[in-house]
Amino acid sequence: MTNSYAFLATCARGFETQLDHELHALGIEHTTPSAGGIRFDTSFITAMKLCLWSRIANKIELLLGECYAPHEDAIYDLGRNLPLEPWFSPTSTFCIRAHVNDKKFTNSVYLSLKLKDGIVDHMRDKWGQRASIDTERPDIVIGLQVVQRRARVFLELQGDPLNMRGYRRRQLQAPIRETLAASMIAVSNWDPETSGFIDPMCGSGTFAIEAALHATNTAPGIQRHFGFETLPCFPDYAASWRQLREEARDLSKRTRKSLNASIRAIDIDDSALDIAQNNAQTAGVAELIEFSKGDILKLRPTPAVLVTNPPYGERITVNDLELPEFYYQLGRHLRTFNDASLTIISVPELLKKNMHMKPAERIPTYNGPIPCEVARYELGRRGPSTADHD
Ligand SMILES: C[S@@+](CC[C@H](N)C(=O)[O-])C[C@H]1O[C@@H](n2cnc3c(N)ncnc32)[C@H](O)[C@@H]1O
Repeated sequence: MTNSYAFLATCARGFETQLDHELHALGIEHTTPSAGGIRFDTSFITAMKLCLWSRIANKIELLLGECYAPHEDAIYDLGRNLPLEPWFSPTSTFCIRAHVNDKKFTNSVYLSLKLKDGIVDHMRDKWGQRASIDTERPDIVIGLQVVQRRARVFLELQGDPLNMRGYRRRQLQAPIRETLAASMIAVSNWDPETSGFIDPMCGSGTFAIEAALHATNTAPGIQRHFGFETLPCFPDYAASWRQLREEARDLSKRTRKSLNASIRAIDIDDSALDIAQNNAQTAGVAELIEFSKGDILKLRPTPAVLVTNPPYGERITVNDLELPEFYYQLGRHLRTFNDASLTIISVPELLKKNMHMKPAERIPTYNGPIPCEVARYELGRRGPSTADHD
């Protein structure tokens, strides 16, 4: 029988519902939403599949143990009681990455050392030797999370965060995370068979590339490696992993043959378009995206799904317009569109005060450290969102 383990998939704040739907579509039956992620039980093979296929998750972590932790010694005991096999081996290296958000504990390094001491004492008892620590290129990455006296220890399966798909070799100053871009595409409800897709301010091309990967059923992780590939138990799963990758490649090839989707990436800046085209080439989807130079404020009204991230934050003017004026013009222009929708990320004040449209959906989130909002507006006949707002 295949063993089942407890997992946590994390995502950008506010997108737990989209992640939950995605996990169900990928075959996970029972899920429990938790802060910033979704918990579920599944096999190690399915967890590898999630690393390969999830567009929305940032991390896939296997829960090794958890406890109530009123003091530091509880963290040592937790380490001492973790299952060593099949995850660790005496000849593999490991490191601990701690995320501590608890008034009781202020020194996350000290907590990591406590956990490490517990784990290596357990190793010495069991094997007569211990694995060594490597913080640069460890075989095994252990996550320690302590929040409100609850300590959880995870085995991180993804390695580099899942947003690092491997195609964004060049980027502009404010690129959006690939997983956040994919989450917004999920919010836009874009169906490649029925509507065209446009990012009218494409920057380094992330939305258009994610849209093309989605439309072609291409696994977002097909070009990269994952943390689980260096686990001591990986040889037992290597054949299943090869099969998952082969199946993913076949599906993408088959979908491409019959694909008839329109994906456009537009920017006012030549150098952005150059970078976007380069990245699309690296992602293997350049021929599926139509790139063009243009100003969003002059874009011909088109029935399409628009997903974009305009300038905000550190930028003060766009096209010589102050940011509030640019957003006002943007709202005014987009209200001339029919049978279209706009899914946009920006700071809430700029959207609320200047777009003069009522969003069909709004999700407070973060883009990096900046508190932002994702809003979806239905434009023209598709919805009632042209009513003034604020
Ligand atoms: C925040 S960046 C977009 C980042 C992009 N999502 C990425 O992943 O790299 C905003 C982009 O809007 C473009 N832009 C600014 N004003 C524009 C306009 N009026 N029309 C079209 N593009 C514009 C800028 O050149 C810039 O590339």
